[in-house]
Amino acid sequence: MSIFERWRLKQNPYTTSPIDKENLDLFVGRKNKVKRAGNVISEKSIVIVEGKRGVGTTSFGNYIRFQKELKGKNLTPVRELSVGNGWNEEILIANVFSSLIWELEGKIPDKYKDRYNEIKLIAHQIRETYRNISLQLSVVGTGGGIGINKQTNVIMPQLYPTATLIQHLLEIKKLVEVSGFNKDTIIQLNNLDIDVLFSSQQLILFLNDIRDILQIEGYTWILVGDSGLRSCISDKVDRLDDIISYDCIIEPLTLDEVYLTINKRLKKFAQKENYLKPLSDNLIEILYHATNGRIRQIFGFSTRLIHSVSDHLLIEQITTDIALPIIKREVEDKLRQNNITRREKMVLEEIAENPGISPSILSSKTSLSLPNLSRLLSHLLKARFVSFERAGRIRRYNVSSDVLIALTK
Ligand SMILES: Nc1ncnc2c1ncn2[C@@H]1O[C@H](COP(=O)(O)OP(=O)(O)O)[C@@H](O)[C@H]1O
Ligand SMILES: [Mg+2]
Repeated sequence: MSIFERWRLKQNPYTTSPIDKENLDLFVGRKNKVKRAGNVISEKSIVIVEGKRGVGTTSFGNYIRFQKELKGKNLTPVRELSVGNGWNEEILIANVFSSLIWELEGKIPDKYKDRYNEIKLIAHQIRETYRNISLQLSVVGTGGGIGINKQTNVIMPQLYPTATLIQHLLEIKKLVEVSGFNKDTIIQLNNLDIDVLFSSQQLILFLNDIRDILQIEGYTWILVGDSGLRSCISDKVDRLDDIISYDCIIEPLTLDEVYLTINKRLKKFAQKENYLKPLSDNLIEILYHATNGRIRQIFGFSTRLIHSVSDHLLIEQITTDIALPIIKREVEDKLRQNNITRREKMVLEEIAENPGISPSILSSKTSLSLPNLSRLLSHLLKARFVSFERAGRIRRYNVSSDVLIALTK
């Protein structure tokens, strides 16, 4: 029996999977931005979708492109293209190429089937070439795409002349058209996150490398990444900034929109009319504030809490009273496992009380010297109990959301 049956639900309403083609009806809010982005991608364009991690950037991009596809004549691959470490222009084209081949399967008119099969064969050869060379470089394919694993820092050597690959993209575009899609093909690139998956240096190299691809006729691009993607492009990527049509900044949903999101899912996933709500609204509100409204983290928390009460059959709803002790216990365990010292814990408490605090203020509040403090902070960073944002030259520290709840509630 699925644990969700306890609430008379067919599945987890707090799943963290992005909105996709199958569940566009679950998308909530962002009306103006959807409208504007939708208008922009009607013509050849490059749209940037940027936001803090977990606020819903991937979902937003998916929503606008699948809406476009539903309304008519744009093709857009169902498969997600997530840019990986070491990607270059060629790997991008090879991935776009194979996802379009896959997408067109079954949609090609008889007259063009032979041509399609020829191109499919080429796509297959390209994939195989990459797979082989990937193995030699101890590089791995990622989820159906072609890529390089995170630990390596290898940049793939160029295997096919770019001109040839571009030619292939133009040819496949013709097949897309004869299959009834006479508007631009929309390609979304996820994961353009600075400092997370790659260094900003690598991201800049990649974007410089693919600039010409982004200008090929017949293709519209949605580039999805962390806050700061656009300014990184303006500062460091030649001749790309002026051809960006719209820089769409995604803010967290409001608390009411998060409630609405949850209620929609509960209704949709209900087995019967009288389903129950697994988490209380009050608890969602606490999670909302602790995560700065990042819905991915709210849902991640919710799912973990549900699993941690799975043995307690008497719990009908996870309320704040039930959740807080669980979160505190988990955090205590994690602190112990990571050998967090008393001093480090004191630093954590100070940051929890003063969100966004800078090292110099932290140093005066804790009476720790700056060198000492920075040693402690780097341990806490490594164990992911804290993170920082840059404000000019200053680093502003915050504790992770579970630590924040455990230490302040
Ligand atoms: N506008 C929205 N309406 C409803 N649910 C959303 C919306 N945006 C995001 N979500 C949900 O939030 C979670 C995280 O979304 P995702 O797009 O993966 O965020 P990000 O790409 O910013 O990490 C997923 O469960 C997704 O379904
Ligand atoms: Mg995402």
